[in-house]
Amino acid sequence: FEVSWDAASAEKGGWPSFMAKEVAEQPEAVANTVRGRIRDGEVVIPELDGLDDLFRGIDRVIITACGTASYAALVGKYAIEQWARIPADVELAHEFRYRDPVIGENTLVVSISQSGETMDTLMAVKYARERGARTLSVCNTQGATIPRESDAVVYTHAGPEVAVASTKAFVAQITALLLLGLHVGRVRGSVSAAESAAAVAELEALPGKVAKVLAEEQAHVAQLAGWMADTRSVLFLGRHVGYPIALEGALKLKEISYIHAEGFAAGELKHGPIALIEPGQPVFVLVPSPRHSALLHAKVVSNIQEIRARGARVIVIAEEGDAAVLPFADEVIRIPLAGALFEPVLAVVPLQIFAMALATAKGLDVDQPRNLAKSVTVE
Ligand code: G6P
Repeated sequence: FEVSWDAASAEKGGWPSFMAKEVAEQPEAVANTVRGRIRDGEVVIPELDGLDDLFRGIDRVIITACGTASYAALVGKYAIEQWARIPADVELAHEFRYRDPVIGENTLVVSISQSGETMDTLMAVKYARERGARTLSVCNTQGATIPRESDAVVYTHAGPEVAVASTKAFVAQITALLLLGLHVGRVRGSVSAAESAAAVAELEALPGKVAKVLAEEQAHVAQLAGWMADTRSVLFLGRHVGYPIALEGALKLKEISYIHAEGFAAGELKHGPIALIEPGQPVFVLVPSPRHSALLHAKVVSNIQEIRARGARVIVIAEEGDAAVLPFADEVIRIPLAGALFEPVLAVVPLQIFAMALATAKGLDVDQPRNLAKSVTVE
C-alpha cells in the first residue's frame, strides 16, 4: 500500500497546477482587494488617509511597471484619467529610468508590482524619488522592498501567487487601480456622486461576475485550446481597455505555451498587422460593450469583418446578448455585462484559461515555464 503524496501537490489543494488554482481564486482576489475600501457608499482607501493634499496637488501621474503589471497599468491610466481627471501615462520601468523624464514634486509615480522586488521597477521608484516625485506603489507582497521605498502603498490582497505567469495578481492590480482612480477622483471632486455610486455597485458585483465566467466558459475555452494545440501563432485585438487585455492574452500564451502571439490595438490593423492575416490564422477579438459606446463597438465589429474576409479564424470575447458579432465569429466567448472600465477583469479570464489549456495540451509545465522567473531581481 502506497500513499502518493508530496508537499507540492498538497499545496495545490487538488488543482493540477498552481496556475489553475490561482485562476480559480480570482473572484476571491478581487473581493479581498475591494474589502475594507468602501465607506458610506464611496471608495475610501484607508491607507491613503492623510494624503488628500498630495492628491489635490499633483498635475501628472506616471505609472511604471514591467510585464503583466504594465498591462494593469494601462487600464489604470484610463481609470485615473476618467475619474481623477489627471493626465496619466504608462512607462515600462526599464525605459523610464534610462532617459531624462520630466518629473517633479507635482508628479505622482505609481509603481505596480506583484512581488514588490522587481529590480527594474524598484530602480524606477528610487529614480523618481531622487528627482522629487511623489511615489505610490501597488503591491501584492506585504513589506516588500518597493512599498518600503515608496511614500504610500495600496496592497492588492490576491494572496501568494506561485505560478510564474501572473493571473490573480493581475486582476487584483486592475481592481486596486480602479479603487485608486475613484479614491483620488473623490478627493479632487472630479467624480460625480452618480458615477461613484455606479462604480461601487460594479466593484461589489465584480467577484460574482468573475466566478460566472469561470463557471460558464472554462470548459468551452479549454476545448478550443485543445483543438488548437498545433497552432503556430495567435493574434489578439482590442481597443480602449481591451487593448491591454489583448497584450496580456498574448503574453500569457508566449510565457507558458511558447507560441508566437501578439496583441494589437485593433485600430492599428490597417497600419500593418492585417498583412499577417491568412486563411486559418486564429485571432482573438475583445469586443467592447455597445452599451458603453456604440461607435467603438461598431469599429471593432468592422475590424472583425476585415479579418474574417481574409480568412481569419475569429474568436470573439463579447458581452452576453451582443448579437452583432455572431455573423462574423467562429467562436463566441461570453462575459457578463459590466461597466466599461470593469470589463478587463472579466475579459482576461478566458485568455488565461486558453493559455493554460494550450500549454497543458502541449504537455508543458504551466507553473514553471522555461527561461522565466517569478520575480526578476536583477537588471
Ligand atoms: C516577471 C514575471 C511576470 C511579471 C513581471 C513583473 O517577468 O515572470 O509574470 O509580470 O516579472 O513582476 P512583478 O512582481 O513586478 O509584478
